[in-house]
Amino acid sequence: MLVLEGIRKVYGEGGDNPVEALKDINLEVEKGEIFGVVGYSGAGKSSLIRCVNLLEKPTSGKVIVNGKDLTTLPPKELRTERKKIGMIFQQFNLLHSKTAFGNVAMPLILEGRSKEQIETKVRKLLSFVGLEDKADHYPEQLSGGQKQRIGIARALATDPHVLLCDEATSALDPDTTNNVLEVLKQVRDELGITILLITHEMNVIRDICDRVAVLDGGVIVEQDTTLNLFTEPQTEIARSFVRTVLNDALPEATLAKVLEKGASNSVYRLLYKGDSANNPLLSDVAKKFAVDINVIHGTITELQGQPFGNIIVEFNGVREEIDNAVAFIEGEQVTIKEVVSDAV
Ligand SMILES: Nc1ncnc2c1ncn2[C@@H]1O[C@H](COP(=O)(O)OP(=O)(O)O)[C@@H](O)[C@H]1O
Ligand SMILES: [Mg+2]
Repeated sequence: MLVLEGIRKVYGEGGDNPVEALKDINLEVEKGEIFGVVGYSGAGKSSLIRCVNLLEKPTSGKVIVNGKDLTTLPPKELRTERKKIGMIFQQFNLLHSKTAFGNVAMPLILEGRSKEQIETKVRKLLSFVGLEDKADHYPEQLSGGQKQRIGIARALATDPHVLLCDEATSALDPDTTNNVLEVLKQVRDELGITILLITHEMNVIRDICDRVAVLDGGVIVEQDTTLNLFTEPQTEIARSFVRTVLNDALPEATLAKVLEKGASNSVYRLLYKGDSANNPLLSDVAKKFAVDINVIHGTITELQGQPFGNIIVEFNGVREEIDNAVAFIEGEQVTIKEVVSDAV
């Protein structure tokens, strides 16, 4: 549906201070997917998303949407193809002199649609985002979440196949964020629109993305399904993003205190996903082996409808019994790792 091939973006090329914001980005977003790109400030996220609809022209590389390489299209064809790509922004970018209705109508007016067509379409879009009663309100009379929903309605006016979201919830509080994310899910589920979103907020990725890429210094350093990335992040930066929502780090002081006991205990991190999270694993271990179990720290969360547990436990007992318990847990499709320092 959306393919980026070898995208490079250099600002100020040939000048004194060129900035290479994107280096060889390769990405493939499937039809009907919600794909997230996460990265810290300055990673190149906005550059990346703006290259997709050619708001920024990539220095090199291809942007293939629906089989067409946008970078090689003549201006007229590019305009047509661009209508199939909607975009929403962190600061909403609404026209303050226009009502909610007027803002949503804008792309249709630009397309030269009839008054009747515009009336019908705008009412339908306002109702889709749950704001039919706000048609005559001006942006300043709307909350942040309502403004973003108007932004979404406007982006949908040209019946896009793809919706790009540039930090669409970063200016919103958590409740409002959830509300806007629900609307985005509805855009995908009910309209079948493919969504590429960029964010620095890992909760957004957790809540609606099917897959995620981590962008750092203009490079995609890791890419996976949301479930895999959360449960088995491979890079330090992905781990640090995961930790912003799954606070699984054990304070070093707590760990040191537990480990003080020496040979009679060991500390382990257990990662459960899917069905294995539903088994009463620890009580089985306590029954089968002569070990005392002390849960020190833990989070159980839901990722893409699947439970995911990340807990740290202390096992007390003789070495052999602890080793047997660990072997038993490994056989239950639970990842278990000894924790010696929590820089894991
Ligand atoms: N128009 C521009 N001119 C020069 N440098 C830019 C421009 N836009 C972005 N940059 C630089 O490119 C890098 C990536 O920026 P950006 O894509 O905005 O990252 P993000 O959205 O992840 O914060 C930064 O170093 C930024 O300063
Ligand atoms: Mg940005």
